[in-house]
Order: sequence, then structure tokens, then C-alpha cells
Amino acid sequence: MSGDHALATVPPPAGGLATHPGGDLVAAAERLARELLEDLHPRWEHTRAVAARAAAGAGAVAPQDRPVLVAAAWLHDVGYAPDLRAVGFHPLDGADHLRGAGWPRLLASLVAHHSGARFAAQVRGLTGALSAHDDPRALAGAIADALTWADQTVSADGEVVDVEERLADVLRRHGPDSPNARCHHLRGPYVRGAVRRTQDRLRRAGAVPAPASAPDGERPPR
Ligand SMILES: [Fe+2]
Repeated sequence: MSGDHALATVPPPAGGLATHPGGDLVAAAERLARELLEDLHPRWEHTRAVAARAAAGAGAVAPQDRPVLVAAAWLHDVGYAPDLRAVGFHPLDGADHLRGAGWPRLLASLVAHHSGARFAAQVRGLTGALSAHDDPRALAGAIADALTWADQTVSADGEVVDVEERLADVLRRHGPDSPNARCHHLRGPYVRGAVRRTQDRLRRAGAVPAPASAPDGERPPR
């Protein structure tokens, strides 16, 4: 992996959200995610599984919003790539890079705010920096909820899990003094609400949400 090379060779598709075919956006997002994260394990396995989960749950959002949801799922953790590290807060580092590289504002905002990042940003003193990415559709609503649902029902290793297991694992891995632990009383309810709302939308749309213990066929290839 070479960051400069990756950044130069995977531009966003031209034309913005309004004019490009959705498949172009998703394909470009997958390529950039692969270039930045493929060598990071298990981050890459997690990323692939979150993208697959978002695609499987795309019925929770309007048809025209499905490409940006799946593209955001591919890119939501690119801020962990060493080449993109700036402030050391991955939602912000990822979003700043994407916006600077010309990716659509809504997509960068979804990356900035995925999984209740604003609560951890507050603990870290980064609320002002994150607010540069305050697109209302990334803060609340069906797309924001579905991205959080996808991320928070997939484990760090890329397995489909229950949201409570995912929340508990984050606290276990990051420790009791971590920013995530210090905002858990706010972030936990937000994440649970996003998961519940997405599952309700999927039920109403007639799309059966994948169970926490997914059959092998739902897991991404390793
Ligand atoms: Fe993630």
C-alpha cells in the first residue's frame, strides 16, 4: 500500500451525487478502501463485511440513496489508514481526506458522523472540527441510521453480531478510560436507536434483516 499512489489513482467519480451512476460511486469507494485498508487486518475484513451488510440492508433507504449508503460503508473506516492519519480521530481524518479529494459532501459527512462519532468527538474536544461535516442527512435519518446499523452489527473481525455484543466489545477493546467509554451513556442509546429504526424500516419494506448469527452465505469471502 502506498498512500500517495492510492490517493492519486482513486479519484471520486466525476459529476457528484446528482449526475453519476450509483455503481460508479460504489466501485470507486471500494477501490479506494482496498488501496488504503487492504493491508490492515482485521480492519479490511470488517470493512468488507460492513459494505456487504449495508448492501443487504439498503432497502431501509430510498432507492436513490442506496449508492451513497454502500459507498459510505466502504469508506467509513479509511481514517484508520496510516497515510490518512492527521488528528488521530478516524471519522474526522477519513472525512477530511474524502472532502479534500473531491468526494461528495454527503458521503464525507456520513463518514464523519458514522456510529455516533459526534459523542466521541465531544470527549476529544473535536466537536468544532467535526462540525465542518454537519450535513443534516448524516446526523439523523434513514441513511445515517442504516450506516450505523451496518457498522454496529458487524464485529471488528467482520462477523455479523448483535448490537449489544458489538457495543460491549468496543468497551472491552478500548478500555474504561477511552473516549468511547466516556461517552457510552450517550453513544450507546444513539446506536441502539439507529439499529432499531433501521430494522423497523427493513420490516416495513418487506426486507428481512439478517440475523445476528448469519449463515455462512451472508459472510463476506475472506
Ligand atoms: Fe467500522
